Amino acid sequence: MRDAHPNIFLYICKFKYSFMKEIVLSGIRPTGNLHLGNYFGAVKNFIRLQDNYNCYFFIADYHSLTTHPHPDDLHGRVRQILVEYLAAGVDPEKATLYVQSDVPEVVELYLFLNMNAYIGELERVTTFKEKVRKQPDNVNAGLLTYPTLMAADILIHKSQYVPVGKDQEQNLEKARDFAARFNNIYGVEYFPIPQAFNFGNQLVKVPGLDGNGKMGKSEGEGNAIFLAEDDASIRKKVMRAKTDSGPTEMNQEKPEPIANLFQLMSIVSKPETVQFFDDAYNNMTIRYGDMKKQLAEDMIQFVTPIREKIREIDANDEYINKVARMGAEKARESARKTIKEVREIIGFKPF
Ligand code: ADP
Ligand code: TRP
Repeated sequence: MRDAHPNIFLYICKFKYSFMKEIVLSGIRPTGNLHLGNYFGAVKNFIRLQDNYNCYFFIADYHSLTTHPHPDDLHGRVRQILVEYLAAGVDPEKATLYVQSDVPEVVELYLFLNMNAYIGELERVTTFKEKVRKQPDNVNAGLLTYPTLMAADILIHKSQYVPVGKDQEQNLEKARDFAARFNNIYGVEYFPIPQAFNFGNQLVKVPGLDGNGKMGKSEGEGNAIFLAEDDASIRKKVMRAKTDSGPTEMNQEKPEPIANLFQLMSIVSKPETVQFFDDAYNNMTIRYGDMKKQLAEDMIQFVTPIREKIREIDANDEYINKVARMGAEKARESARKTIKEVREIIGFKPF
């Protein structure tokens, strides 16, 4: 009995603390396997956050319908991302890991937010304009209202922080606008205004291997290195990455494809390795072939343990199903509470 006091004290503290923890949320669309861009732009932060925040991480399968309207094997792709989240280190005991379509309350909040979102502002979102260019035959209303669905994802758990890559900055800005507008219209301080989250303050952009732009799931063959990728394929892709004929002056500024290789190296290699090739570039002795070989080996070293974990978890159906069911239950509980309160704020009353 003597040492019961400190134990009870600790228990109460822990209990109280879990209520006080700030809320973090992020999602990834099931449109292809996770790559290094997803890992370093998003998932790496998820893992660091799960110990100290009340975290919700989900698979944005509703969102994927805006670009993949006839999704072949939608369930298989959702499952794959779930496996990859787990393999990368998301712990379902610490974070709530769930599938967006398991929480239909999100759709109701999306509807409410759409009532106060204006066509003009949605049309100005860069990712919308990009998608209009990319899929002119399928400019659907879901694409236009992508930011309101994303805001609903964030606000359904009243999240404060959203760890995402730089490409999501503007969508997040819209979520902030919609949260503030809701509070303003209904005269309540209900939704927190969500903020982007990154440990280094700067949002990360991992470049692709094709010389320009970001690494992406759908940016074309050879652009992305996947967490599940085998060694031979990584080597082949890296050796084919775009370069040029080499520097023509000492200390020359690096053109984009070369700067991208250096940036990728700074992500997976040791600082001394980056320094070695940087010096070689500056004194014009660099051999891109050697640099790429090193980059490929360092990528392989990074990816190998995650790839092995992916295989292991992928074989365990029972575990995957259990994680998904547990996540859905926890996420719905929080979502139901928010929707109930939102309905009351807007003025719906049960008869
Ligand atoms: P993709 O663009 O490959 O389809 P998603 O749009 O599903 O990937 O992105 C999921 C998460 O990964 C988002 O938080 C996004 O910001 C991040 N992300 C994707 N690509 C990159 C990248 N190249 N660099 C940094 N973060 C990225
Ligand atoms: N739009 C995000 C992407 O393409 C995915 C996403 C959907 C998301 N809903 C979200 C990210 C809510 C953060 C929070 O990457």
